[in-house]
Amino acid sequence: MLFPFFKRRKKEKRRGPKLRVDLHSHLIPGIDDGSQSMEESLSLLRGLEALGYEKLVITPHIMSDSYPNSAKTILSGLATLKEEAKENGISLQLEAGAEYYLDECFFEEMRKDEIMAIGNRYVLFESSYISKPLQIEEMIFAIGEAGYEPMMAHPERYRYIKNPEKEYRRFKELGVQFQVNINSFGGHYGKQAEALVNFLNEAGMIDFLGSDVHHKKQLDTLSELFYSEVYHKIFENNTIKNDMLL
Ligand SMILES: [Fe+2]
Repeated sequence: MLFPFFKRRKKEKRRGPKLRVDLHSHLIPGIDDGSQSMEESLSLLRGLEALGYEKLVITPHIMSDSYPNSAKTILSGLATLKEEAKENGISLQLEAGAEYYLDECFFEEMRKDEIMAIGNRYVLFESSYISKPLQIEEMIFAIGEAGYEPMMAHPERYRYIKNPEKEYRRFKELGVQFQVNINSFGGHYGKQAEALVNFLNEAGMIDFLGSDVHHKKQLDTLSELFYSEVYHKIFENNTIKNDMLL
């Protein structure tokens, strides 16, 4: 009689592999659309530390119209955040990069000697979600010419991707690293992003996983996804390189 009871028992969910490094978030207060106060930043940092992260490379937007950040604004914000984190008993290692928007000022940014690269190696970039920039390939070359490797932020979120096999392969040929957002697997950014991230997962094209945390809700979604079936699959299908940045 006991057997059917055990049979009906819900399969216990296993937590997937822990990531020690996150390389995409918006946690420097007040300089982009992420955290808006020190209090909010500290709470998000505590949340990420509780999820097992040991190091965060925070990546504020650099976008000429909306977020005219520079190495100066980012590094000064980082210094204050590090101080506050330390005073509040947070032991996460904190660094900064940036998320560069491919706009008309992008070439200018790459010419400057103050590029905020992740681990001094990768330039994280994003573009319009709706239309592929005409000069996207030249922009990717410019990153290489500046001595860095291009890393595309959340390739699954660009609605202009109509032929994923062909378009993603082309980016790979150009040497682009793909950083997908873990939350895309849960449908946090809509159905199309979820379908595209599943494509990238099955094709083994994912290089890095990002939290892209701006606010608390994304932290909650992230903590649920760590227990999902699909999260385990990411590590079976891809070589995830986050922890090389420790
Ligand atoms: Fe972002």
